[in-house]
Amino acid sequence: MAHVLITGGCGFFGAWILRKLFDAGHTPTVWDLELNPKRWLMILTPDEVAKVAFASVRVDDPDAVKAAMLEANPDAVIHLAGLQVPTCKKDPIAGARVNVIGTLAVFEAARALPRKPGLAYASSAAVFGSDADYDHQAVGDASWPRPGTHYGAFKLCNELTAKVFWTDHGLSSAGFRPLTVYGPGRDVGLTSFPTRAVAAALLGQNFEIPFSGPTCYTHCAEVAGYFVAAALAAKREGAPVYTVGGEVADSKTFVEKLSRHVPEAKALVRVSGGDLPIASHLDDKPLRQAFPQVKRIGLDEGIGMTVEIFKKLKARGELAAG
Ligand SMILES: NC(=O)c1ccc[n+]([C@@H]2O[C@H](COP(=O)([O-])OP(=O)(O)OC[C@H]3O[C@@H](n4cnc5c(N)ncnc54)[C@H](O)[C@@H]3O)[C@@H](O)[C@H]2O)c1
Repeated sequence: MAHVLITGGCGFFGAWILRKLFDAGHTPTVWDLELNPKRWLMILTPDEVAKVAFASVRVDDPDAVKAAMLEANPDAVIHLAGLQVPTCKKDPIAGARVNVIGTLAVFEAARALPRKPGLAYASSAAVFGSDADYDHQAVGDASWPRPGTHYGAFKLCNELTAKVFWTDHGLSSAGFRPLTVYGPGRDVGLTSFPTRAVAAALLGQNFEIPFSGPTCYTHCAEVAGYFVAAALAAKREGAPVYTVGGEVADSKTFVEKLSRHVPEAKALVRVSGGDLPIASHLDDKPLRQAFPQVKRIGLDEGIGMTVEIFKKLKARGELAAG
């Protein structure tokens, strides 16, 4: 069984990756700014939560990262810590410190370990520009990145950095570029509104999704599967980056699908605004070839899974407003 370190592990992806690691009998360590198990408690048992080793480590503090990495000496690292699109827009310098310097710090520390760990990290489909930038054609691993946000530019920088760590130091890694990941625990960021609409509808609250255009939806359990499979792969080479596809839907279609599970959504959830600045038609053939073992989860199934967990949280009085 492997010891897996997750940076930013108190966040949304972190919770779902912990779920996968416990299901497979692995031992997790989490680094984050501070211990906040609220998302873990949505999908882990209290016993599992108690088993997570936690350390408060800021990834933008390279010395602290190096010392903590040597102490943890993990078999694999899943690097998720980062600031999202709105925060990077408001404060690009803070964004670069965490997203760029933080990623460099994690890679530098990983290469200094006595035995090179498996390494998977979160990039983003925000490395692409808008649908209009690509004449509304599908984009994929071979497409020219044209980030339209600081966040996307930082993620692209990290992908290039990862490739240099492979050529300079033989440190292999796998990066993933998802777009709109949804499910319990998704509560911050530009594309968090659809998940928050699910919670609002179940709570009988009005809610507005502030973009109407299409986006590519991937369920969190599927995304967690890719990170874990890559970090623990027996054979690792190079620094591939995988575009993560899913089901494309505009916000009206999302609300229609949600209404099949929560009929109140039709009246409660409104849609406003225009398109997202990130291309929605994502070609992920290389991802599917590399990770055939990871089960795809369609949007209807994923909304159903989300509703089921939110209903349980609501019954316990723990479902937060959208
Ligand atoms: N959620 C999505 O749909 C999506 C899509 C594409 C890419 N991503 C990327 O995946 C990663 C995980 O996303 P998420 O939705 O779990 O995000 P999240 O915001 O829920 O979690 C990020 C975590 O990083 C932590 N963090 C922030 N600054 C830190 C620092 N300096 N040191 C240590 N920890 C720090 C936060 O406290 C938080 O717990 C992020 O890098 C994000 O950019 C997410």
